[in-house]
Amino acid sequence: MRYLSKDNYHWWMPFTQMNTFLKKHPVIIDQAEGVYLTDTNGRKYLDMSSSMWNVCLGHKRKEIIEAIYNQYHRLDFSSPFRASNSKAVELAKKLSEINHSQLKKSFFTCNGSDSVEAGIKMARQYFKLKNQKKYKIISLKKAYHGVSYGAMAASGFEEDKVYFEPLPAGFLQIPPPYCYRCPYNKTYPSCNIECANYLEEVIKKEKPETVAMFLIEPVMGMGGVIIPPKEYFKIINKICKKYNILLMVDEVTTGFGRTGKMFAHEYWNLSPDIMCLGKGISNGSFPIGATMVTDKIWEQFLNGDEKTFNHGSTYFGHPVGCAAALTCIDIIIKENIIENVQEKGKYFSKLLNDLKGIRIVGDIRSIGLMFAIEFVNDKEYKQPLNKALISKIIGSCHMLGIWAHFTENVMLLFPPFICSNEHLQKAFHILNRVINSVSKK
Ligand SMILES: Cc1ncc(COP(=O)(O)O)c(C=O)c1O
Repeated sequence: MRYLSKDNYHWWMPFTQMNTFLKKHPVIIDQAEGVYLTDTNGRKYLDMSSSMWNVCLGHKRKEIIEAIYNQYHRLDFSSPFRASNSKAVELAKKLSEINHSQLKKSFFTCNGSDSVEAGIKMARQYFKLKNQKKYKIISLKKAYHGVSYGAMAASGFEEDKVYFEPLPAGFLQIPPPYCYRCPYNKTYPSCNIECANYLEEVIKKEKPETVAMFLIEPVMGMGGVIIPPKEYFKIINKICKKYNILLMVDEVTTGFGRTGKMFAHEYWNLSPDIMCLGKGISNGSFPIGATMVTDKIWEQFLNGDEKTFNHGSTYFGHPVGCAAALTCIDIIIKENIIENVQEKGKYFSKLLNDLKGIRIVGDIRSIGLMFAIEFVNDKEYKQPLNKALISKIIGSCHMLGIWAHFTENVMLLFPPFICSNEHLQKAFHILNRVINSVSKK
């Protein structure tokens, strides 16, 4: 397929300024294999984003395609209303077995936004069923939780919300544990983890009897791989317990091995009340997500028709998506994928260390196979690198064949779990070349 002209192009793409996109001879991806994407001009890209952080096991995994094919032949669809289906039952059981927390029941969805939306509604209904007036959702600035109204209202990127106001009531965000740019102008560890303790101040100000839930990505993805200091969750957990506030972890990006644990909250021994899943659950092969809850939440919804969770959509619990997810989980376990993520993560982190000396590299953060390179104009004042130079980095990386995402002045690298040391070396060499060249401008 040749480049399409503006008049000949009809797809309105998400989060994309179509005018800019169409002016720049757009990249149209046409094929994929393993860790590579190929566009319609035959240009190959090393997929350092696992597509949209979801194709973690590589493109076109034979076992997943076969599971999907077989499921289509056995049961292509079944309504989730009133009748159950065998694959959804199996997947829910599997999910209850692979987490170390008390998360026992799964509500299936179609994506990450849906999973967060369902969790928000569950939390609000949970307290209504207990005759409590707790409805406020506290989350973090720079958090990303999705696009539906609740998930968007809980997200912390103000510029993404302004055109869609008025937003639903009862959502507020507090500063994140972003040590590189501490919102309190303090330095770890003498900061006394003020970002965590501030949650208590806000709860008191809002009145604890109105606060339902604290929602957090254990490691913030879109915010720029923000990893909380080790004390953070201990404090958060204590505050949530003290004020009877539910803790919901959004593991849409971090779930299924991305951080080097099956679920990132394991790093801090957290026991969340609700967990949101998506992305890696099906390796991008089928739109599916899940909202998992503890028995404490689940039981509140039993006993009486009026307690039903009146939420759901036609495709929730799709048998084909569930078959794909079961196969992904099988692969993750059988192939020791989590250990591989830890190993490859350490390897790439060591390579990236060499970039630290470059003038425009302000900070490099990583956990497992989740990396951020934060670019600055100068290391001392940490002023974000100007947009023209950021565009130059993005353009050159694409030209030289690596596919990566940016959020403002931060490059996000989330390589597939199956990438080899050679793939990571290749990515490093391109990054080194591009960043060094831009730093001399
Ligand atoms: C942490 C987190 N939550 C929720 C979402 C929304 O997921 P989706 O785009 O599948 O709706 C994303 C997407 O990037 C995410 O990173």
